[in-house]
This record gives sequence, structure tokens and C-alpha cells, in this order.
Amino acid sequence: MTRHGNTLGGLLARQRMGAGWSQEELADRSGVSVRTVRNIETGAVQSPRHSSLSLMVAAFQEAGLFEAEYVLRDFTDRNGTENSVALSGRPTGVSTSNGVRAGDDYDWLVGRKNDISRICDSLHRDRWTTLVGPGGVGKTKLAFAVADRLRSQFAGGVSIVHLGETSEDHDETAVWHAVCEALLTEGSPGDGSAAKRRLVVIDNIEHLQTPAVRVCQRLLAEFPDLWILVTSRHAVAAAGVKTVEVRPLSTVDAEQLFLYRAQAACSDLDLTGRGSAVAEICRKLDGLPSALEVAALRLRSLSIDTLLKAPVRQIVAQPSIADLPHQRTLIESVTWSYGMLGEEQRRLLRWLSAFPEAFTIKDLLGRPDREAVVDDFPHLVDIVSDLVDRSMLQVRRGSEYRYSMLGHIREVIRILQ
Ligand SMILES: Nc1ncnc2c1ncn2[C@@H]1O[C@H](COP(=O)(O)OP(=O)(O)OP(=O)(O)O)[C@@H](O)[C@H]1O
Ligand SMILES: [Mg+2]
Repeated sequence: MTRHGNTLGGLLARQRMGAGWSQEELADRSGVSVRTVRNIETGAVQSPRHSSLSLMVAAFQEAGLFEAEYVLRDFTDRNGTENSVALSGRPTGVSTSNGVRAGDDYDWLVGRKNDISRICDSLHRDRWTTLVGPGGVGKTKLAFAVADRLRSQFAGGVSIVHLGETSEDHDETAVWHAVCEALLTEGSPGDGSAAKRRLVVIDNIEHLQTPAVRVCQRLLAEFPDLWILVTSRHAVAAAGVKTVEVRPLSTVDAEQLFLYRAQAACSDLDLTGRGSAVAEICRKLDGLPSALEVAALRLRSLSIDTLLKAPVRQIVAQPSIADLPHQRTLIESVTWSYGMLGEEQRRLLRWLSAFPEAFTIKDLLGRPDREAVVDDFPHLVDIVSDLVDRSMLQVRRGSEYRYSMLGHIREVIRILQ
């Protein structure tokens, strides 16, 4: 058994024995198998699944063994695990100023290891990266995680500008001022020295896309030491920008997030043996983090079986834990995006909301009622592609592209009709 050194196995064994538990007892209390406990402790498994670790952390927490809980959390925070990248606290060096909120320090970042490497790679190669995806998918969370991860490479500091609450009437000058204000709290930008490289995260630009894009272009031109990471529900079409699409969580990560949030909402909740119900809820909510959080909160008052029976339209109306006005409920989140569409896009979206399955352009062309919604082929493809750019439709790119609408978006569109 590896009991020496600061290996995960060693730490786990020490904490378990300190608690006076056998491997069987830890397995019993946490719900992971004895084999998993043994494999981690012997070092046979050095990067265990994040779900196993968090169950063991929870078992220590439940028993009031906070030191053990802390030691294990701290270890995974510093080292990461197969399935997780920890985000403990907001990135150091992140400045806040008027209209700029502190970083999101709520809990760990679940999963997203591949997304983080894609974004870091993109930022190594290019000075401007935009994270694009539907509301509540986790763009802001990821942007902070990346800022945290890359902090040491930006000696000039990391600044965050939240535009989510900024009125859509803001013009280029107003956006410029908001960004410069955040930058100036970190020192003077633009001395051109490589040692002073800095990163600015500009969060939620979709409602200010045109002025914000101009500001980004100007920042890149005026400050050679500045790198930009933007989040937006809308794809950005501009020279020099790299787009990273943010998709809903994988099944495993969605379940993990749901369990974390359920436990945070209700610490004595016992979901042992309810894996398939959890999986079904996560599927029903398309693995969308904000929807999972809303549903998990409901476990305080409703059993998981009742929640399973609840229609998605009931879940979308529940308050979320977010503090931005457009994120208070999923209805508000989707309505915010819907409000930025033109009438033609809305009409097509309403029509598409009746389709339960993914579809191709060919499928749409074959629909007898299509002409009443959109007259000709070029028009149809323009609108579909616009809806993809605005993250209202998801696309799977094969030899033929397949489009689909996230279930909660479909429900809200139906409510809005
Ligand atoms: N990987 C994750 N691990 C843990 N929590 C997550 C993860 N992804 C998202 N969340 C949580 O889900 C919620 C929505 O995430 P976030 O605010 O980042 O979405 P967004 O894509 O920025 O949405 P919007 O377009 O509305 O700004 C937040 O409460 C966030 O903390
Ligand atoms: Mg956001």
C-alpha cells in the first residue's frame, strides 16, 4: 500500500485510517466499490474518476471529518483528476471595477478537461478566442477556469469585464470604457513588453456584439501585450478570432454536477441506488448545467421520482442560483436570446420547436408546411445558419449536418408562442 509521500492513494489511506474505517467501511459509506478504494490506495489507479472521489469526499464530510474532506479536496484542486479541473476561488489577479463582478467561485468545475485544453491551445496560438454556446451551458464558468489556469503566463494580470448586465444601448465608446476601466485597475496596458502579457476576459457580449467586436479589434491593435477571451451566445465573425464551441456536459459530467448540486441543496439527501433516475433527469435536461442546477435545487422539496415526472416546462420556470437578470430562470435565459432574433428567425424557430428529433436541411425541404414558414431554399438555409450562430440550434457535423434544439429551448419557445 502506498502510505508515504503525497500521493492521492497515500492521502486517502491516511485519512481513512485516521477515521478508524476499513476499506469496506469507506466503500459502504461512500457508495464506491471496495475495489476502487483499494486501487486508489495502492496506486493502481492514480487518476480515479472524479465521481468516485467526490463520493468519498462526501462520505468524510457527512461523518463530520472535515479535515479529511479538506485534504482530499485540496489535493484534487491542485492536481486535477481524470475527469475534473478544480476551480477553487476566483482567479487571483482578476480585477473588479464598476459593473464588474467578482469571479464565479461557486464550487468546482466539473469535467471540461478537453475544453480547457482546446481553449488554452487557442490562446497560445492566437490573441483572441471566443467561447460560443447556448445560455447556461457553462461559457463563463469555463472562461474563469481558463483564466485561472493561465494566470502564471500573463504576468501583467488577468482582468474580467462582465457585460451581462450592461444595457444593449451601449455603444462602442461605452464598451471601450468598461474594458479600459477593468484593465486600468491592473496597471497601464500597452507598454508592449512580453513580460507584461495580460489577459482580459470579456463576458457575455451577445447583446453588444457589434460594438464589442470593434472594441476587441481595437484592443488587439493598440495593445500588443493583450490577449482576449470572450464569451458569447452568438458566434463572432471577425478576422483573427478563434471560436471554441461550448456544448452541454457529457453524461458522466452532467450526473456529477447534478449530484454535487443536489448535495449542496440538501446535504442529507440519499440518492444511493438512484443512478438510473439521475441519468434520466440529466438526459431530459440535455446535460445543460444551468438546467441541472435548477432541477437539483428542486430535490429539497420533491423526490427524484416526482422530479422525473415533472415536465421540462415546469423546471424552466423555477428560479436558478444565478444572479444575472437574464439567468434567473431558464425561461428568462431563453427569452433573452429569443428577444435578440428577428421575426423571420422567430417564426422558423417556432415551427422547428414542434420537431421532436434532429433534422437535416433535406428533411425541412420535404415538409409540406414549410412554404408557409419560409418561401425558398436560400432563405431557409440563411435562417437555419443564423439560428446555429446564435446557439438556438445545435449542429452535429457529419457528411450531412444534423440540427437539433435543446429540450428546454423548445419548451420555452412553445410557452412564448
Ligand atoms: N462544468 C461546470 N461545473 C460546475 N458548474 C458549472 C459548470 N458549467 C456550468 N456550471 C454552472 O452552471 C451555471 C451556468 O453556467 P454559466 O453561467 O457559465 O453559463 P453561460 O454559458 O455563461 O450562460 P449565459 O449565456 O447565460 O451567460 C452556473 O451556475 C455555473 O456555475
Ligand atoms: Mg455567461
